[in-house]
Amino acid sequence: MRNLIDILDFSTEELDSLISVATDIIDNPDKYREACKGKILGTLFFEPSTRTRLSFTSAMMSLGGSVLGFDNPASSSTTKGETVQDTIRMVSAYTDIIAMRHPKEGAPIAAAQVSRVPIINAGDGGHYHPTQTLTDLITINRKCGRFNDLTIGICGDLKYGRTVHSLIAAMSRYENVKFILISPDELKLPDYVKEAYLEMMGKDYEESKDLESVIPSLDILYMTRIQQERFADKNEYERLKDSYILNLSKLKFAKPTLSILHPLPRVNEIDVDVDDDPRAHYFDQAAYGRYIRMAAILKLLDAKNEEGKRNDDGVQDPTRECTNPHCLSIDERGLKKLFRDGRCIYCDQTATKKK
Ligand code: CP
Repeated sequence: MRNLIDILDFSTEELDSLISVATDIIDNPDKYREACKGKILGTLFFEPSTRTRLSFTSAMMSLGGSVLGFDNPASSSTTKGETVQDTIRMVSAYTDIIAMRHPKEGAPIAAAQVSRVPIINAGDGGHYHPTQTLTDLITINRKCGRFNDLTIGICGDLKYGRTVHSLIAAMSRYENVKFILISPDELKLPDYVKEAYLEMMGKDYEESKDLESVIPSLDILYMTRIQQERFADKNEYERLKDSYILNLSKLKFAKPTLSILHPLPRVNEIDVDVDDDPRAHYFDQAAYGRYIRMAAILKLLDAKNEEGKRNDDGVQDPTRECTNPHCLSIDERGLKKLFRDGRCIYCDQTATKKK
């Protein structure tokens, strides 16, 4: 069985194939109207969502399938203390595939360890958001026409922005891609992402605090929201929230072929005047989410007999502990604490040696 926990669960060839299927769905929707007849998608959203949950729902309904689930954990037995793994044990008995969003990093990995059906990570805390990356990739494919030879500026909250981490993982596999990481010092890209996808892959990247000075060199500008809900210190959020605001005067210095992307929702980081600029593609990007998620559902249901990546291939190590307060492994009862290469397998953070 295959899951989609991390964008690297799909090879670049599989991503090309998903984009081809999504394109065919856009061109020939009638061909797919009964493709998932009789199948049920579970949507378990322990965190708020507009685009991801509704595009998954629309995707399954457009394939002739049904959807059940919750959009608020307060209406589930989570409030009675049920663990993520027990919830998944139950919901995977009632559905054929599950898309889940959870505030804790690694929750979809814990889910995949016990699920009877494929798990799709619809966002786990500040960690990863691979189906947003599918949406980003189809947009890059349609608007730029290539994945190689691109200078990509990623601007805003690179620390907590899970879409950023998954996008860097995906784009690091292509040739001659340069990343310009634009953020305040407090919101720089975490080391685990930098090490795994930029340094170990030998990618060209630079860090900057200044959007205006780098904008002329960019082929893609990926703006992101400062993730208010992840800040422990609300005063820090207030200080950083308007660090970057893209407006028409800044865009005067950008290439005419620039593609402006944003996973949305936006707060202040893109002025509404930019929406009418032909380089602004973020609403098309969100619209493509429905079709690429249709392709992903078809792929995962079709791959039920294929071997997927194991989600429990770490080792138990009583001398180490994960101290990331945002990791599910800290507070999920009964979850095996597992480590790989000195890192927690759930959140990828370096595990500390116990004293
Ligand atoms: N891009 C994204 O994940 O949006 P939602 O939070 O609305 O699902």
